[in-house]
Amino acid sequence: MPDPFANWQEALEKRHLANLTFQEVRRSVQALSAIYVEQRDRIDSGAALNGAGKRAAFAMFYAPLHFLLVREIVRALDLAGSPAESIVDLGCGTGSAAAAWALECDPAPKVIGVDRNSWALQEAKWTYDVLGLRATTRAMDVRTIAIPAQTGVVAAFTINELDPESRDRLLRHFLKCAERGSPILIVEPIARRLTSWWGDWAQAFINAGGRQDDWRFRIELPEKLKLMDKAAGLDHRELTGRSLCCSKFGVRHH
Ligand SMILES: C[S@@+](CC[C@H](N)C(=O)[O-])C[C@H]1O[C@@H](n2cnc3c(N)ncnc32)[C@H](O)[C@@H]1O
Repeated sequence: MPDPFANWQEALEKRHLANLTFQEVRRSVQALSAIYVEQRDRIDSGAALNGAGKRAAFAMFYAPLHFLLVREIVRALDLAGSPAESIVDLGCGTGSAAAAWALECDPAPKVIGVDRNSWALQEAKWTYDVLGLRATTRAMDVRTIAIPAQTGVVAAFTINELDPESRDRLLRHFLKCAERGSPILIVEPIARRLTSWWGDWAQAFINAGGRQDDWRFRIELPEKLKLMDKAAGLDHRELTGRSLCCSKFGVRHH
């Protein structure tokens, strides 16, 4: 069976290089990287996802990297068997995190992508279509979400964009969902200054029977991603991230 990831990546290239050159996307990858690393105060005003260049950079470079990272984490934590009928992706962006998890499961659960950015939701819908997933998208603020029963949750690179009060509320809600059996997976970058709240969350997850992990996966990036990575002066030969996970069924305890 053809690898759905490879197929998606090829379709992404076609979609975004139709109107932009490789060099334009490369410059936007660098601009986006600067926003996420040095100018985080600009994220709230929507600076990360405005403009065709940055959108293309996000969709065809960062999203596939996030997909690959989440897929490795799902495999390492043995989450493919988590018995959720659907997976809701909080701050789904272009859809990569829940897609990576759902595609590891057989049968694939339904995916619900939630974001407040309408461009991201449009892209997420396209991503799910290309990957052959059953999915819907919802334009919503994740800060006030209530997760239905029988639903897994993934939030990748989203929780650190929220204010502390909303984060606290979501943590309490996630713990309730975990208690009634919903698998929960949170993924964030390793950089400590972005995740000052991590220690408290990790303790809460561990107390609830879950776990926290730091990950470094050395994987061979697809050629196109490798090229862009190098051209933009970045180095993703190792995919890194940290996760919090609570799943009564999937998580292997060491
Ligand atoms: C860094 S992106 C990550 C996207 C995706 N999860 C991924 O891993 O590629 C963060 C996403 O969260 C969304 N987001 C941030 N705060 C939000 C909120 N309060 N409600 C809904 N979406 C939010 C942004 O619009 C953006 O799409």
